[in-house]
Amino acid sequence: MADKIRVLLSEEDVNARINQVAAQISKDYEGKSVHLICILKGGVFFTCELAKRLTVPVSLDFMSVSSYGDDTKSSGVVRIVKDLDEPLTDLNVLIVEDIIDSGRTLSYLMEVLKQRGPASIRLCTLLDKPERRVKKQVKVDYTCFTIPDEFVVGYGLDYAQKYRNLPYIGVVEL
Ligand code: IMP
Ligand code: MG
Repeated sequence: MADKIRVLLSEEDVNARINQVAAQISKDYEGKSVHLICILKGGVFFTCELAKRLTVPVSLDFMSVSSYGDDTKSSGVVRIVKDLDEPLTDLNVLIVEDIIDSGRTLSYLMEVLKQRGPASIRLCTLLDKPERRVKKQVKVDYTCFTIPDEFVVGYGLDYAQKYRNLPYIGVVEL
């Protein structure tokens, strides 16, 4: 049976906000280039939309991580399923995530990636659910939307691997 999905952020809302954030990033990195690290799979739609709008030189790499635990609750133990192809030495790294929830994935990743000698490292997320944060030390540099504690899908985010392709952000009504 098809799930009912309530629109939380329309395609227009999301596009307009990505325009703003991309303009801010382009300004902040003026005169430099930026190395985007897309966190698969959820970050892929946002990474593409963001990258297309940046006016500074962009390079891209991809990483896939999985946390041990069930789908809706991550355990804090993170495993690198696919590592980056290139070293990070002297690059201005911008990690691009779909959503920061407990912050466990990102707090682990930040520590791992910092040790690879980037010139700088920042974090950009499409969505942030601060109410759910366990790892309070995770500092998000660019957030498109802060949302309440609801399980969302679309724009890369899935529910049991479904709905990543929705062009808007919605809440699955269970
Ligand atoms: P964290 O380690 O708890 O911050 O986990 C973040 C990851 O959990 C995200 O990259 C998503 O894959 C997943 N996640 C957290 N909240 C949601 C949600 O509302 N919808 C879909 N996936 C989510
Ligand atoms: Mg994810």
